[in-house]
Amino acid sequence: MTLVGTTVQVAAAPRGPRARHLLDLRDWSASEIHALFDTTDVMAQVMERTIKKVPALQGFTVGTLFFENSTRTRLSFERAARAQSADVISFAAGASSLSKGESLRDTLLTIDAMQADLYVVRHAAAGAAHQLTNWTNAAVVNAGDGRRAHPTQALLDAYTFKTRFEGFTGFEGARLAIVGDVLHSRVARSNVELWTKLGADVVLCGPRTLLPSEFAEHPNVTLTHRVEEATEGAHAVMALRLQRERMHGALLPSLAEYRSRYQVTRASMRHARPGALVMHPGPMNRDVEIEGALADGPSSVIQAQVANGVPVRMAVLYTLLVGKR
Ligand code: CP
Repeated sequence: MTLVGTTVQVAAAPRGPRARHLLDLRDWSASEIHALFDTTDVMAQVMERTIKKVPALQGFTVGTLFFENSTRTRLSFERAARAQSADVISFAAGASSLSKGESLRDTLLTIDAMQADLYVVRHAAAGAAHQLTNWTNAAVVNAGDGRRAHPTQALLDAYTFKTRFEGFTGFEGARLAIVGDVLHSRVARSNVELWTKLGADVVLCGPRTLLPSEFAEHPNVTLTHRVEEATEGAHAVMALRLQRERMHGALLPSLAEYRSRYQVTRASMRHARPGALVMHPGPMNRDVEIEGALADGPSSVIQAQVANGVPVRMAVLYTLLVGKR
């Protein structure tokens, strides 16, 4: 791909059954991810221009299908589509005919009759995006399915680390600490998948009840219940909110105890590497999982994560619709 004036020159578009999907980073190789980051660099240049628009996806339609609430993901996908001149059709469950008894399948078939080329889908059920690929010939991007995966969030997190960690020399040997409600977190699962694939080590930290055993045997993942141990030598520390919407039963002794033991604070960052980044995928509950002053401080890249969501998602849309993986 090359940038010419205000245009991006693109290759021919694969459509229909040949469409590629982004359901899970498990299906993407490290070299495909590095290529996606290279495309993101180009898209980031577009977003730095006065006129933040190129015709790369003119004639394509992107459908955003959100069966769960979202601020960042939905808006940044829509921004990413429009910045490349794609049309956008937008579905929000709360304002739809789901409340009149229409099934998920019939809802999706109805939307698919409007012929979008790519769907971005978020759903509370794990596997929902994958299921959608059985009902449409369009490309499908998973924007979060239950606690399973949120691949574009992990991509923008890793891209933010690559572009913002001073003296970045690669992911090999980098150490990411993820602190909080790992059990219910699709962001944690996708970040483990991505960062370890790129050669980094990941430390997962939380109370016993919120730290799943599924990673216990992973060669590049360490589990701990102590925040100071998690942040020790970390290049980046990511705080996760308590996902109460996915909690069934009492998993915490008390919020006050959780705060005192698991809140990521300026004090806990003293154990991290000099220049370590503070990250949070959002939405953030200040002074619960992260100290407000830390979130607003000089090491925080939380706003950069949001900003990078746009070029990363531009690259995803571009790669799936007209590029090559
Ligand atoms: N990080 C994230 O997925 O945020 P939203 O729920 O606002 O999309």
